[in-house]
Amino acid sequence: MKSWYVLAFLWLSCFCHRALSCPALCTCYPRRNEVVCNEVPLTEFPSDGLPENTTLLTIQFTNITSISEAHLNAIPKLQGLHLYNNHLHSLPSHLLRGVPHLNTLDLTGNRLSNLPADVFSHAPLQSLVLKNNLIRKADAEWLSYNSSLTWLDLSGNELTEIPTNLLLKLPHLENLDFSNNRLDKIPANSLSQLSKLERLRLQNNKLDTLNGSAFQSLNSLTHLFLTQNKLNKLPKNLFQGLTQLRHLSLDENQLSHIPPGLLDELDLLEEDGLDLTVNPWLCDGKAEYLWKWLHENKKKAFLPDSITCAGPQPLAGRSIISLTANELNLQS
Ligand SMILES: *[C@@H]1O[C@H](CO)[C@@H](O)[C@H](O)[C@H]1NC(C)=O
Ligand SMILES: *[C@@H]1O[C@H](CO)[C@@H](O)[C@H](O)[C@H]1NC(C)=O
Ligand SMILES: *[C@@H]1O[C@H](CO)[C@@H](O)[C@H](O)[C@H]1NC(C)=O
Ligand SMILES: *[C@@H]1O[C@H](CO)[C@@H](O)[C@H](O)[C@H]1NC(C)=O
Repeated sequence: MKSWYVLAFLWLSCFCHRALSCPALCTCYPRRNEVVCNEVPLTEFPSDGLPENTTLLTIQFTNITSISEAHLNAIPKLQGLHLYNNHLHSLPSHLLRGVPHLNTLDLTGNRLSNLPADVFSHAPLQSLVLKNNLIRKADAEWLSYNSSLTWLDLSGNELTEIPTNLLLKLPHLENLDFSNNRLDKIPANSLSQLSKLERLRLQNNKLDTLNGSAFQSLNSLTHLFLTQNKLNKLPKNLFQGLTQLRHLSLDENQLSHIPPGLLDELDLLEEDGLDLTVNPWLCDGKAEYLWKWLHENKKKAFLPDSITCAGPQPLAGRSIISLTANELNLQS
């Protein structure tokens, strides 16, 4: 009888221990197979007590500096891994070999710079977020050929070049974010494989000119963000073929004119969908196309009364839409 009690006790304590198994400093939600380690003084990956059936793991605002393939091998059912704002400075090759169901990896706010080949291979990733790191070059070797990525966020890094070879491997991309980098050009054909791309974010870079064929293959594009660059001239055919475009932001650039016809194919622009504010518009005869377009599409322009002339001097500060044909010096 006594030994039965002991056995029962051992079995129960073992069971309870397993049921309650959770890494120190973390919170476990067994019913959703989720583990969260939020803003705690962890310095290493919390392997001890991590439930084997974890599908969602969040480690954020901690001091962990590394993560290995072996760490992830212990949680083979993982589908989402969120590692925001830690101190990760490198990642190993084949990191994801042991997590064949991982579809979301978020590494926002770490100190990643050079990443090795195959760092994101193996897993069927759909969403990869590398926002706010120190990455200078995004390498084609990071991923295997048949990547299923639909969402790639490289914003807030130090990229100087569009990673053309990496993008060639990503025919399923729908969202691409390169904002807040140092890109100064978009080589022709660098985006040519992205026929499913819907949102392209390029704001806050150093783009000053664009090749007329830069966006030519992006037939599914609905949102294009070019705010806060140094664009001073746009080629006439730049938006040709972007017939699905609903939102286009060109504010905070150096545009003084746009070429006649530039906006003609953008039939689907939504209300407030085109932002042309904060540019040094020159209100001379060459502004006729823009002036007419604004009159005919006032609702589609964001804050149309704030699209103002920088010159010539007598018109400086006036909104373009308020000008008369005479003021624009149009010969009729
Ligand atoms: C996952 O494991 C924990 C503890 O080991 C258990 O409580 C939970 O029910 C398990 N979930 C599933 C879906 O098996
Ligand atoms: C991380 O380390 C720093 C410096 O040692 C410390 O000040 C900070 O509180 C730690 N963060 C957490 C979440 O424990
Ligand atoms: C292609 O993807 C599938 C599923 O994501 C994977 O099992 C396979 O190993 C991949 N093949 C190559 C060559 O990467
Ligand atoms: C744009 O790219 C095409 C194709 O590479 C090239 O032939 C053309 O000269 C480029 N145009 C300008 C203005 O750079």
